[in-house]
Amino acid sequence: MVYEATATAPVNIAVIKYWGKRDTKLILPTNSSLSVTLDQDHLRSTTTSRADAAFEAGDRLWLNGKEESIKEGGRLWTCIKELRGWRAAEEAKDAAKPKISTFPLRIASYNNFPTAAGLASSASGLAALVASLAALYELPQSPSDLSRIARQGSGSACRSLFGGYVAWQEGVEADGSDSLAVEVAPREHWPDLHSLICVVSDAKKGTSSTAGMQQTVQTSPLLQARLKVVPQRMTDISKAILDKDFDTFAKITMADSNQFHAVCLDTQPPIFYLNDVSRGVIALVEELNRAHLEATGHLLAAYTFDAGPNAVIYAPEANIATVVAAVNKYFPQAEAFPDPFKVGTAAALPAGFNE
Ligand code: DP6
Repeated sequence: MVYEATATAPVNIAVIKYWGKRDTKLILPTNSSLSVTLDQDHLRSTTTSRADAAFEAGDRLWLNGKEESIKEGGRLWTCIKELRGWRAAEEAKDAAKPKISTFPLRIASYNNFPTAAGLASSASGLAALVASLAALYELPQSPSDLSRIARQGSGSACRSLFGGYVAWQEGVEADGSDSLAVEVAPREHWPDLHSLICVVSDAKKGTSSTAGMQQTVQTSPLLQARLKVVPQRMTDISKAILDKDFDTFAKITMADSNQFHAVCLDTQPPIFYLNDVSRGVIALVEELNRAHLEATGHLLAAYTFDAGPNAVIYAPEANIATVVAAVNKYFPQAEAFPDPFKVGTAAALPAGFNE
């Protein structure tokens, strides 16, 4: 008998950035963070996990069709080990449960967005992996419980266990038991908020988030100042989301993105994620906001940048056309985002998956 489950998880983009670990093994952050989940229909990872006693010994995993090694003690290994342990505990409680925790696993994960979207896929990918194993093992744990496992795969992945607006609470416990994701509001709460991805470059970033944030922790005095202001921002932006207050949401989002990049610049050696085009997008949105504020008393849009040059712009639906027109006018070389290709799940399982 083959046991199989498929799960999907969305891409999330932080508006309060996670940047720095206080524990690199357990992936415990130096500050809480908050993200907005992007449209699941277009941007998500889908993972199929299968357990079968007939498989050759050892777990195997493919990402977008390419086999990745599961290194002992590594992040993937840790996530699988934890979930398998939870399944084994359920089997020990109930003799009727088949002992599938002992079976080798085959795991295949796909992103339905092109690499050219310039988006990091680790968050949605790790979250989909955890969700698919939780489904395969029929685990009773809640999404927040599962987020503690996803966190150990990649910090930002814990926020992709939920849709909508999600906070990763840093927690205080040394074992990470309270460092988990919680839903601030479901997606339906504020359907008017739209996002736009401006792909400035699809090249792989020079400094990975994992390496960059630890350089910052070790060398940036400015990070200490940042850690003092984040708690208030978490409170204020959560309230802005609950109140659907775009002006406050936008102000905090842009301030936090700029502070995150300032902290990168304050790192030794300095880390540059933004390029001239990114700065051009910032100048454009700032100018649009200035004019809109004068005319209407409200902001038009908010930008945010992760560990790379690509902009994510948030705006109320009614403002999106203005933002797109301005981006097309000032960045005429901009190409329309290609239709994300849809990937079937079972049909796309890689060679070797059933061995
Ligand atoms: C700038 O989650 O990729 O996107 O925990 O080392 O895997 P690791 O780092 P990762 O870092 C994400 C950094 C960020 C901000 C954010 O998503 O909060």
